Amino acid sequence: MSKIENLIRLAVKTFSHRRDAFTLSKVTDKSASESSNLFPNLLSELVDRASNLTGDDIGLNQLLQYPSRVRVRQKPTALYCGIYETSPLVTVCIFILYPQQSIPLHSHPGMYGVLKLVHGRLLIKSYTSLKPVNLAADVVPNFEAAMSTVELDQNCPPAVLAPDKHNLHEVINTSNDFAVCVDVISPRYENDNCYFQARKQSTDVFEISQIPCPSTFHTIHVPFPLANHISIEDLNN
Ligand SMILES: [Fe+2]
Repeated sequence: MSKIENLIRLAVKTFSHRRDAFTLSKVTDKSASESSNLFPNLLSELVDRASNLTGDDIGLNQLLQYPSRVRVRQKPTALYCGIYETSPLVTVCIFILYPQQSIPLHSHPGMYGVLKLVHGRLLIKSYTSLKPVNLAADVVPNFEAAMSTVELDQNCPPAVLAPDKHNLHEVINTSNDFAVCVDVISPRYENDNCYFQARKQSTDVFEISQIPCPSTFHTIHVPFPLANHISIEDLNN
């Protein structure tokens, strides 16, 4: 089994054990409790597994050929490559971020996320709300959040976000090379109202306000070059 298929299978297993996941709504209280105990260990294993991913595991050479083949009027911010996106439980995908481009500040309402960079460099600005906030609401009132940054290269462990930590982030490619990362998010995005702006209030505290999707953010979908290396139909039932 390929490393990426292993990762997908572990991601499905991990998030099906998340106690508050909608997928667990039918289980009994006892099994839910057991599930909640398993979840942190599985998530940690998933992060370790993602940490070991390399460009070869996702067809990096083929992925890096896409930008020269894409012919469009407006240069994209990023190319998006869906690897596993047929289940509402988990999405596994790749972003190929163009040089000097950013994925604008966005939220992951109620989600976990694991982002592993396999090529290039990225700066990630993450925000954690100082008080509970419903990021899934159609209209999110302004709120305050603490900001932290991390710089990633291909040797770094994945950046991890959780429902209550680092749940909003801006992903910035400050280099003159492409940046390629694998994203595992759970559950699947169901909401387009996820874009925000941050206004500095003090050293690390920002006021966050909801905005429409920036018109400069533009992605193009490309196929996963190693699609024939994975066999995951049985996970979709
Ligand atoms: Fe994100």
